Amino acid sequence: MNNMNPKSLIVIFGATGDLAKRKLFPSIYKLYQKGKLTEEFAVVGVARRPLSHEEFRSYVRQSVEDSTSQELKSDTFISHFYYHSLDVTSTASYQELKSLLERLDEAYNVPGNRIFYLAMAPEFFGTITAHLKSEGLTATNGWKRLVIEKPFGHDLKTAQQLNQEIRKAFSEKEIFRIDHYLGKEMVQNIEVIRFANAIFEPLWNNRFIANIQITSSETLGVEDRGRYYDHSGALRDMVQNHMLQMVALLAMEPPIKLTTDEIRSEKVKVLRALRPIAHDEVEQYFVRGQYGKGIVKGKEVVGYREENNVDPNSNTETFVAGKLMIDNFRWAGVPFYIRTGKRMTEKSTKIVVQFKDVPMNLYYRTSETISPNLLVIHIQPDEGITLHLNAKKSGETMKTTPIKLDYCNNCIDGINTPEAYEKLLYDCMRGDATNFTHWDEVAASWSFIDPISEVWENTKAADFPNYEAGSMGPKAADELLKKDGFYWWPIHYNGL
Ligand code: BG6
Repeated sequence: MNNMNPKSLIVIFGATGDLAKRKLFPSIYKLYQKGKLTEEFAVVGVARRPLSHEEFRSYVRQSVEDSTSQELKSDTFISHFYYHSLDVTSTASYQELKSLLERLDEAYNVPGNRIFYLAMAPEFFGTITAHLKSEGLTATNGWKRLVIEKPFGHDLKTAQQLNQEIRKAFSEKEIFRIDHYLGKEMVQNIEVIRFANAIFEPLWNNRFIANIQITSSETLGVEDRGRYYDHSGALRDMVQNHMLQMVALLAMEPPIKLTTDEIRSEKVKVLRALRPIAHDEVEQYFVRGQYGKGIVKGKEVVGYREENNVDPNSNTETFVAGKLMIDNFRWAGVPFYIRTGKRMTEKSTKIVVQFKDVPMNLYYRTSETISPNLLVIHIQPDEGITLHLNAKKSGETMKTTPIKLDYCNNCIDGINTPEAYEKLLYDCMRGDATNFTHWDEVAASWSFIDPISEVWENTKAADFPNYEAGSMGPKAADELLKKDGFYWWPIHYNGL
């Protein structure tokens, strides 16, 4: 592992799709530009439609130019791209792909290292991996890895089936399940903030923390993904993966070493410690929402039920807020509140750690309330950390004033944070699976989510749509915290 310039063939299934175009080709280009790829690599785009290598190359060129807003002057990078039109059920088609890969191994001096990236609808994952094995594409002298995108199943049962299918061709160590949140700079920073600073870890428990809030709000609606989204909903689309991964990173014990296995094993323990929510408790712990029409960033937008490919009576949630309890020694009694939704006020992902109030407020006598200390981790679009403290109001004897200590990652000149996909692709080439989801994490997450989605699927939400596009979600999401004596800290909180 950790070969800095890994030689490999990257085979992208779904090469004419949106993900490949928007994220994968531009990321490969950036790695190339930074010298992380050298010249010993090739990319084979695979999809159904017939395209020549040349046609595919101009498609890739366009995608890179769109993302960098610059003309790609040299042809060298693009010359590494090849195309194969695949009929997913035809053995002959895989045989042809196999000989192409063998030719490319020779041509680019690649010792049989192969990444099979499935950037496509999951219904074909099993068929493809079975053929990769039966037709000998995985029988290579080098290493082989399988990268798969979410959704990994629709619930625990379907996830298990999918896992069994792909495990027939790849071992767990060879499977890289993408959760692109794990590639975000500030998500990766959670561990560093916690474990590289003496001042946080001693306080990182139920004696000093009152609650933790994670908000991931989006302004976009479902765009052209109605068909997928209407069968998924926010719980499966965002909570089962991204939100629970952030919870795990915030709540895990310090690993004994920074190795993939140690980190993953600590995360799995958190997910297993999540207090299961029984069917009749769902209402108490979780709130669902669906957006109606409204105004987002000054523009009128339609309600969810009016979107393309969405059932006009849809019962699908586009917003989720939840209260999670982690039943272990460190976190007993500390609520983790999460909320995420489409068509909200602004695009923002933030974590707020609210510390308990000081034991005795000496400043009440001056009718000053003291704001709680908050540690805010800004994941996106800003990247940074803010620590909210109280200080003396200058000039006034015994009065306090809230102050902020700020660190802004993407404000520093010259720091252009790499895209999550760029980092994850590179990790995969080097064989570092730390920022990918292990099967045990997937399974534990579905076990937690399943009862909630069962209840929601079987009971019609009578109040849908229950939040206006452009708002921060339904009222019930505020009530969820109010019951516990808390409230959501505003996205742009500047002190009380
Ligand atoms: C994806 C979801 O996993 O994450 C999308 O399928 C969502 O619905 C996206 O929009 C959000 O990612 P980001 O990086 O824009 O916060």
